[in-house]
Amino acid sequence: MDHQQQIIIGESSSFLEIIEQTSRAASHDRAVLVIGERGTGKELIASRLHFLSPRWEQKFVQVNCAALPDTLLESELFGHEAGSFTGAAGKRIGRFEEADGGTLFLDEIATTSLSAQEKILRITEYGTFQRLGSNKTLSADVRIIGATNIDLPTAADLGEFRHDLLDRLALDVITLPPLRARRDDIMILAQHFARKIAQERGWMSFPGFSSEITDQLMAYDWPGNIRELKNVIERAVYYADDEKDPVDQIILDPFRSPYRPSTNTPKERQSDVRINPHQKPSELEPRDFQQTIDQFEKDLLQKALKANKFNQRRTAGYLGLNYHQLRHQLKKHNLLS
Ligand SMILES: Nc1ncnc2c1ncn2[C@@H]1O[C@H](COP(=O)(O)OP(=O)(O)OP(=O)(O)O)[C@@H](O)[C@H]1O
Ligand SMILES: [Mg+2]
Repeated sequence: MDHQQQIIIGESSSFLEIIEQTSRAASHDRAVLVIGERGTGKELIASRLHFLSPRWEQKFVQVNCAALPDTLLESELFGHEAGSFTGAAGKRIGRFEEADGGTLFLDEIATTSLSAQEKILRITEYGTFQRLGSNKTLSADVRIIGATNIDLPTAADLGEFRHDLLDRLALDVITLPPLRARRDDIMILAQHFARKIAQERGWMSFPGFSSEITDQLMAYDWPGNIRELKNVIERAVYYADDEKDPVDQIILDPFRSPYRPSTNTPKERQSDVRINPHQKPSELEPRDFQQTIDQFEKDLLQKALKANKFNQRRTAGYLGLNYHQLRHQLKKHNLLS
């Protein structure tokens, strides 16, 4: 879709602050990080940053860093010379070269390898890079926007993300609020998505939502944020009978079914954080109980996050928790951005 044409909807004060911060950040030429849970609109904000910036007439190049294995990602970003690795038949221009003069949006930046991070750091510091299989130094003038849904300072503390690159990228950090933290926007967004589908269905107007549905939409926690809301509304309006009556049926969980496969809860997974059974009782005093449990939980969460490359959904599955439970735990231990 043409990014320039996407409308950004929202009137809540936390959202308006983000829009303001985005406009301010667009005008400087430095790197920006966009942080937020899945479906909160990181991509929309990234494109807005580009199209409001002085580089708006230049290229806006987008790379999903999670979509490619490490070596391919490096060749995607920096290009390669013919024969530089198995399968590299011809020469290839990388995305940094392609974005020269414009903006490069590195989505899911936390999944990049330390080696790719080092090269990204170099290009942010000196504007120089080399194609894979070449030692010729090239230069590119690119503004980087990075996006992620994980807490980068924690990733850096765990050695998964370079501190120096984080410092470089964190000149401006835009953290998007989850939908449940901006409930004022739920119905505004719902109406917007509903009207679009009503129009697609050839309805004269959108009849609105029944009050029960409104209550349900307002009360739900929206773990998948705006994307999830959009899907729920689109489904509801597509399935609604006609344009005369307010929409009074929604399906919040499309997977709900009596035949749904039982959760494949992870097998008892070994955790290397455990209380040492040989520990002398004197080292484990009763007053340490809560503290020990808390530390245990925190270590377990951090290790599980790391083992799952900070993908919260996978981490939840790995620990046999649902997404909400995991988020709750992460919040409790201050592991959220
Ligand atoms: N404020 C908004 N107004 C209108 N639509 C929005 C808004 N924010 C997000 N959307 C829509 O919600 C969907 C998800 O947004 P987007 O892809 O930008 O999220 P994301 O944060 O990049 O998610 P993920 O982490 O899963 O990649 C898109 O269809 C987008 O157009
Ligand atoms: Mg995205």
